[in-house]
Amino acid sequence: MPLKTEILPTDAAGLARAADLLRGGGLVAFPTETVYGLGANARNDLAVARIFEAKARPRFNPLIVHVADITVAKRYAIFNDTAERLAQAFWPGPLTLVLPLAPGAGLSPLVTADLPTVAIRIPAHPLAHALLTAFNGPVAAPSANPSGRISPTRVAHVLDGLEGRIDAVLDGGSCDVGVESTILEPLEHTARLLRPGGLPVEALEACLGTFLQEFDISETITAPGQLASHYAPNAGVRLGVTAPNTGELWLGFGPSAHAADLNLSPSGDLIEAAANLFHMLRNLDARAAPGSTIAVSKIPDTGLGRAINDRLRRAAAPRG
Ligand code: TXA
Ligand code: MG
Repeated sequence: MPLKTEILPTDAAGLARAADLLRGGGLVAFPTETVYGLGANARNDLAVARIFEAKARPRFNPLIVHVADITVAKRYAIFNDTAERLAQAFWPGPLTLVLPLAPGAGLSPLVTADLPTVAIRIPAHPLAHALLTAFNGPVAAPSANPSGRISPTRVAHVLDGLEGRIDAVLDGGSCDVGVESTILEPLEHTARLLRPGGLPVEALEACLGTFLQEFDISETITAPGQLASHYAPNAGVRLGVTAPNTGELWLGFGPSAHAADLNLSPSGDLIEAAANLFHMLRNLDARAAPGSTIAVSKIPDTGLGRAINDRLRRAAAPRG
């Protein structure tokens, strides 16, 4: 059933409504200085799963976590000296830093695609800042467009792609920068450019007094499951089962899997299944005997099922 997408004014009432919707697990598009983001509470698995559903993303690409200030950022990420320097120089602004995830950060593993790092950004747009302050928590936000379409810089673009699929959009006019943030991974004395964007490389190099490391296209994070550092279960993974073999743990889906060790969604709801996926894989992996296998029920390859199956195929792929 399509949602009624509210177009919220940028006064105190509109901001309060947007923050309430986020608190309730809703999806709220909001302006940043780069492009409109599609925001959800980054600690709420179901809310984050709904981002992927609304965008029809075929993969669980990691998302950028937006926060109001650097004190909040440090709850979720570990800053080395380079990160500290870049943050002081360019935040708030169109710069995203990929940093080690802080212990106990409490973010949904869907936000990081279960990577040991988190992408974090403090947007400069006053409305983004006001929303993050009113919500008082971390907001996961990819660009507010259906997967594969160009990023939106006006409310009309957001509605064009996502009306009826999201709860609300904060009407903040047009975005100044118009391209997404520059994504950097700070290293010891330099940084690696992961995505060129709204903050020019020259400004970053001038700040660090050194050249940025080359962007290696083979390492792009469009497929986080291919990263060596990416979590894969220790147990083997067998897909598309209707029942487990003896000694296997069973990760079920739907009502027919009532005897499963864990069930991604007993009712067969793909949004719930996506929200549970990484938690349940880790849980079963911790319980699996050495050399044993996790058997996974067949998941429909529609909607979020495509992203779930993409991730499961990576987990089941032969280990390198
Ligand atoms: O300007 C922007 O950055 C906009 C506004 C809304 O903030 N957001 C945006 O998000 O462009 P999105 O989802 O379209 O791009 C996020 C990209 C991912 O595709 C991935 O390449 C990278 O950020 N990313 C996120 N987490 C990462 C991680 N842990 N390691 C490496 N790259 C990561
Ligand atoms: Mg995008």
